[in-house]
Amino acid sequence: MLRTHTCGELRTADVNKEVKLSGWVQRIRDKGGLIWIDLRDRYGMTQLLMEEGRSAQQVVDTARKLGREFVIQASGNVIERESKNPKMATGEIEIDLTALKVLNASKTPPFTIEDDTDGGDELRMKYRYLDLRRNPLRENISLRHRLSLETRKYLDNQGFIDIETPFLIKSTPEGARDFVVPSRMNEGQFYALPQSPQTFKQLLMVAGYDRYFQLVKCFRDEDLRADRQPEFTQIDCEMAFVEQQDVLDTFEGLVRYLFKEVKGIDIENLPHMTYAEAMQKYGSDKPDLRFGMEFVELNEVAQGKGFNVFDEAELVVGIDAAGCAEYSRKQLDKLTDFVKKPQIGAKGLVYVKYNADGTFKSSVDKFYSEEDLKTWAEKFNARPGDLLLVLSGEAEKTRKQLNELRLEMGNQLNLRDPKVFKPLWVVDFPLLEWDEESKRFHAMHHPFTSPKPEHEAMLSTDPGKVNANAYDLVINGVEIGGGSIRIHNRELQKKMFQVLGFTDEEAQAQFGFLMNAFEFGAPPHGGIALGFDRLVALFAGQDSIRDFIAFPKNNAGRDVMIDSPSVIAKEQLDELGLKLDLKK
Ligand code: AMO
Repeated sequence: MLRTHTCGELRTADVNKEVKLSGWVQRIRDKGGLIWIDLRDRYGMTQLLMEEGRSAQQVVDTARKLGREFVIQASGNVIERESKNPKMATGEIEIDLTALKVLNASKTPPFTIEDDTDGGDELRMKYRYLDLRRNPLRENISLRHRLSLETRKYLDNQGFIDIETPFLIKSTPEGARDFVVPSRMNEGQFYALPQSPQTFKQLLMVAGYDRYFQLVKCFRDEDLRADRQPEFTQIDCEMAFVEQQDVLDTFEGLVRYLFKEVKGIDIENLPHMTYAEAMQKYGSDKPDLRFGMEFVELNEVAQGKGFNVFDEAELVVGIDAAGCAEYSRKQLDKLTDFVKKPQIGAKGLVYVKYNADGTFKSSVDKFYSEEDLKTWAEKFNARPGDLLLVLSGEAEKTRKQLNELRLEMGNQLNLRDPKVFKPLWVVDFPLLEWDEESKRFHAMHHPFTSPKPEHEAMLSTDPGKVNANAYDLVINGVEIGGGSIRIHNRELQKKMFQVLGFTDEEAQAQFGFLMNAFEFGAPPHGGIALGFDRLVALFAGQDSIRDFIAFPKNNAGRDVMIDSPSVIAKEQLDELGLKLDLKK
């Protein structure tokens, strides 16, 4: 037996027990005749003790040869510690060693295996197996497991069954590029890795498996960001014989269950907000509701006073940063620089200080009297001591810019507490969005999403105005999930492809399998997919999903540990019938 206990479980009640522990050497302290070793495994850390002269010489000699991260087996007796460590779960005891064995030596690790490591990103990625030994990552990976297990329990209880769908498929158009895999047996032809199991889960509904789920890998060849990986995991679900409210209720239930089981938090009923309202009040379809600072439109009170910038703008809109009237010139300049960054693209920022004494000071005093500014303040329901920040320009763009500014102010004022969770449903998304570049409509969610029944007729006359039975689950400003009620009628699906610019032949060639299935008794159905990596990161109060995935890719889409992607041998290329012209 290599161990009788783990390094996280011994307590005072175990005193006098003879135990065997195995694990990694975290640190060694050698003070004269006394030697301590902190022994670590997945479950925690236990202190080992030996004493020159009193302990067996073999034990002391072996201990003196150890280095960090050696794997050892330690045998001894549990004793009560003289100086207890309340910060450690096992801090009341230590092991008085009777035998010590090296199971495997270790080179000195390239970075310290501590909570705050000295290793840079690239190095930690290269030695991911060492990084994974650190507590923060260990906790992240355990949290992921816990959420996965509880998700399965909840969905199983609700009658969902887990069905695997293939990874070698054909393209599904969901906005990103596909990763493709050449087929050796069908030279010149390629599989695509699924961006999601969307069409398969719909076919499962046609097949009668009316509640499907899968925790499934999805693959998208898109630019990486903190919340995006080229392969990521979805909690993917589909239900038959449902309307939108049924899907929302079921997954609101999942969200509430997970917060309660995993974090002990009671979540209130999820508010519903239409896409139009979200855009108007927050300039985003994923509003962070942990704080207010709703947009206030000022066209009525700010235009017609001779300030050209506002007079010519389609929209004048602002936010009220409570208690910020004391911002210095330097702080205001910094905010102006922030909105003028190329990524945000505002031309400038107008501010109004509503001073604590009730007077006003603004960057546009030339054009507006105190009386004018007072009417602005009333629109905002502002209070003395507040700072009003105003942008103007083309409506859609200005709202997006103000969204960035709102989030920045939320950060500056510590209003985005990672321990507070504010989920909501955003509903009534537009079905389509116009793409200026290709001069055609794209599906905002995906082409299988159904239009609102009352808008169906507009598909032919005014497609841009059609709303969809589509919804997003948003938590703390993060799009955690999205779904829709689907089209289940062949004619409507065909019409949808026409609106998206497919010829009937193209639609049939790419999606004939789905449209044909709709002719064999397809039930009404709908579903949703939650981004599992994002959900786990959110539960831990973090933005980046990378450290919630055991073996992620870096920002260039590379796995630097296994050094992938990599070139393949000429024979492999030949076998696949592929020729690479690397000169290009
Ligand atoms: P959608 O494309 O909205 O919907 O994806 C669902 C959720 O998956 C997460 N997500 C990602 N997470 C990490 N890295 C990525 N690259 C990434 N891309 C998406 C997001 C997102 O909300 N088939 C539909 C679902 C449906 O209609 O049922 C779909 O895939 O959290």
